Amino acid sequence: MGLGAFAQAEHHDWEDNHVLQINREPARAYFIPYGQTKGDRMLSLNGVWRFRWTKTPNERIRDFYRADYDDSHWATLPVPANWEVNGYGTPIYVSAGYPFKIDPPYVTSEPKKDWTTYEERNPTGQYRRTFVLPAGWTATVSDGSPSRNGQTFLRFEGVMSAFYVWINGHRVGYSQGSMEPSEFNVTPYLKTGENQIAVEVYKYSDGSYLEDQDFWRFGGIHRDVLLYHTPNVRIRDVAVRASMDGVLQINPHFSVYNGETGDGYHLVATLFDGARPVGCGSVAAAEVLDLAHKAARMNEWFPQRGHRKFGRMTMQVDNPRLWSVEHPNLYTLRLQLQNADGETVESVTQQVGFRTIAIKGGQLLINGQPIKIRGVNRHEHDPYTARLMSEERMLQDLRLMKAANINAVRLAHYPNCPRWYELCDSMGMYVMDEADCETHGLRGTLASTPDWADAFLDRAIRMAERDKNHSSIIFWSLGNESGYGPNHAAMSAWLHDFDPTRPIHYEGAQGDPDPSTVDVISRFYPRVMQEYLNPGIPEGSDQERAENARWERLLEIANKTGDRCTWVGSDGGPRPVLTSEYAHAMGNALGNFKEYWDEINSHPRMLGGFIWDWVDQGIICGDSVLYGGDFGDKPNLNAFCMNGIVMSDRTLTPKYYEVQAIYGGMSEREIAQQYPETSAAKPKSSKNKKTLSESLIALFSSIKTQCFRAPTDNDKSFGNWLAKDWKRCGLDTLYIPVWTEQDGNEFVFTFEIPDSLPPLPRLGILIELPREYEQLTWYGRGPWDNYPDRKVSCPVGLWKSTVSQQYVHYPRPQDSGNHEDCTYIELRTKKGKKLRIEAIDEPFSFSALPYSAQYIASKPHDYELQDQGKTYLSIDCAVMGLGNSSCGPGVLKRYTINPKKRYQLKIRISGDSLERIFMP
Ligand code: GAL
Repeated sequence: MGLGAFAQAEHHDWEDNHVLQINREPARAYFIPYGQTKGDRMLSLNGVWRFRWTKTPNERIRDFYRADYDDSHWATLPVPANWEVNGYGTPIYVSAGYPFKIDPPYVTSEPKKDWTTYEERNPTGQYRRTFVLPAGWTATVSDGSPSRNGQTFLRFEGVMSAFYVWINGHRVGYSQGSMEPSEFNVTPYLKTGENQIAVEVYKYSDGSYLEDQDFWRFGGIHRDVLLYHTPNVRIRDVAVRASMDGVLQINPHFSVYNGETGDGYHLVATLFDGARPVGCGSVAAAEVLDLAHKAARMNEWFPQRGHRKFGRMTMQVDNPRLWSVEHPNLYTLRLQLQNADGETVESVTQQVGFRTIAIKGGQLLINGQPIKIRGVNRHEHDPYTARLMSEERMLQDLRLMKAANINAVRLAHYPNCPRWYELCDSMGMYVMDEADCETHGLRGTLASTPDWADAFLDRAIRMAERDKNHSSIIFWSLGNESGYGPNHAAMSAWLHDFDPTRPIHYEGAQGDPDPSTVDVISRFYPRVMQEYLNPGIPEGSDQERAENARWERLLEIANKTGDRCTWVGSDGGPRPVLTSEYAHAMGNALGNFKEYWDEINSHPRMLGGFIWDWVDQGIICGDSVLYGGDFGDKPNLNAFCMNGIVMSDRTLTPKYYEVQAIYGGMSEREIAQQYPETSAAKPKSSKNKKTLSESLIALFSSIKTQCFRAPTDNDKSFGNWLAKDWKRCGLDTLYIPVWTEQDGNEFVFTFEIPDSLPPLPRLGILIELPREYEQLTWYGRGPWDNYPDRKVSCPVGLWKSTVSQQYVHYPRPQDSGNHEDCTYIELRTKKGKKLRIEAIDEPFSFSALPYSAQYIASKPHDYELQDQGKTYLSIDCAVMGLGNSSCGPGVLKRYTINPKKRYQLKIRISGDSLERIFMP
């Protein structure tokens, strides 16, 4: 029997979109209750577990959960950890379209034979470990009657993608949804002393149909696992709202067990500013519980008509220190549940920030002040541990973001691990929290299928319930790239009513006008209002290449009148216009980032944007950074996961600095002050014309013209429209016709661009030097590389470097190392030999690399590049910009080489020992 047949013959909860959970506790805010001190009622189950992995569920051991099962011969695996970076199974990088055969809700139907999932149909991990129940947590009493001394809950912060759990051989429950927590009440199954837990994890489930994000597909328990203990009257949940007027509303929820009613219990809330109490309140647990469902009480809080009331306790803080990204002021709310004797039986603490979000006049206001989103999208990705984020990594990301003047992060495309939000609260970062809902490969079909409404809602509810108390979250997002349908409308309606304090975002909600279920107009990869290069389109025509035309103009949208925001927090004016993904930072990228911001700053409705994205999703094995396909994974979208402004290991790139300069609104002077090496003083030009020497004759004959660069990811782009044409025309070996004049050591190269050629990436000359020419000094833009449309962060100055340091090691090799606006460059050997090239009249661009353009273009991986034993010095009179077409519009026309123009490169060449350089 084939796997597919098996899948459908036997009912599987994990292939049934109606079974989202079994015995899972309702979602609640993230906190771990304690007694006297934090953590005193918590037992982490992180650590080493016994582990068994199989490619398919059929190979699993069915009764592995038995308490007496002998697992001593099993391997071990840490929890949390992803399987594929620990030797179990193949990491698969799929951008969109699912790694398994599309056959919802089934995930084990037979895919193509060459797909990874043909063999690894649904990898299954079985986990076992024991733990000793802390004294006092004993739950089931020996006569089998329910616990008299409290409840114990088992909590998983994130498991990809579906799992069952057993305790001491008893089945506890089931859950799916990789990025939301799952809690189970395990009280009935526990015993004093040693207990045994077993977990069975399926990499794919019907839930995976909502998890078709553009990322690596990693399985396993990738976030913390823990147990915590509560009394039989407990604080089940708490929701807080704290606004800029100093009003703090607190809505607690309680649960009772074992016949308890909560009578006599009070929740006492104290708000601290540092150590100083600044507010207090209390509420009777029985009132909130209302086990008798008293009509008067229900009418007060949940009336027959109209809205429910929020805020069982309310405090007023005078002149609160408000929370914002710039001043992330937090207060501490302590909740103590006290019994009738006034003893505290359970405590919870929660950080609270006072702030108010509003939309007025098409602007997003935080505490009454309009803000712009200087944002970045971020996947949870670590090149060594995959989806598992350490505290250090999160801190590193946040510190680097803050240093780059980034003020907002979109959690693309799923709720992150809970610690991330605490850090965003305390360090100051606006957050767009996004539901784990992307059905890219099925477009909008599931969003329009009522049968999937529960599954959609489940994800919105679990996100909002868990994260509702974080000041940093200023948007709920319904997910990503899932079309638009009633299931989105349901998510939005639920979120709007559940939380009137935050606006809603979803880029897929588009139309004319965009549906009112979203409070911000959002688009991907927009065009600026300038002319783009449109190869193949006749000069003067209004047409545009489809690759450009498909992207909308944000400013045009912002200029449209008649739009209305219907969110309760708005003034009914137009909605702000946001780009939730722009500046696709794949490889050598981030062209015309400045132009985006000139536009954003030009219009009040332009809210800003989130760069795609923060970090390359590379996997580091030894010295190599690997991407899709490198593991034999199929299907895959190779290097399309490498779009970060920082590299996988968080090495900063020139893109990062450009973001820093533009997001910081920094002046050239401020930028220059950052880099101590730079000197603005322009060195004196030698101006002494030398007579033509033998050595210069030799040099002259070694110079070649050059019009090719190793295609960047943008040059390749979606449609492969530039690089493909370069290849067709043999640009890599083509010498452009040039008219050369020479007067002593002064040269004038005049280029004639033949009509037959596609848009050129560069125009200039190449000089091949012995590799010993390693030391580099130039007066021009630096310190890192820059291009005509990405040079704001690179002031003109005197810079020093080495040829070895010039190339930027993008994991997929491509052009880099260019410097604009140079008036001279000098290359030196250790022994003091020198070559100097000066601009006459117009500055030039240069790069000095240990690799040729053709060599770079021939290698798919950085680790394959080897120093070629030569220094390749390119001096160009023009270089094309970078643009954004790896996913977005191309390069702006004004940053391209004009085929009609007559370009001239005028330079003066000198050197101490030219004959030794150039003579054979
Ligand atoms: C977007 C998508 C992102 C990513 C990006 C391309 O359409 O939302 O997840 O795939 O394109 O890198």
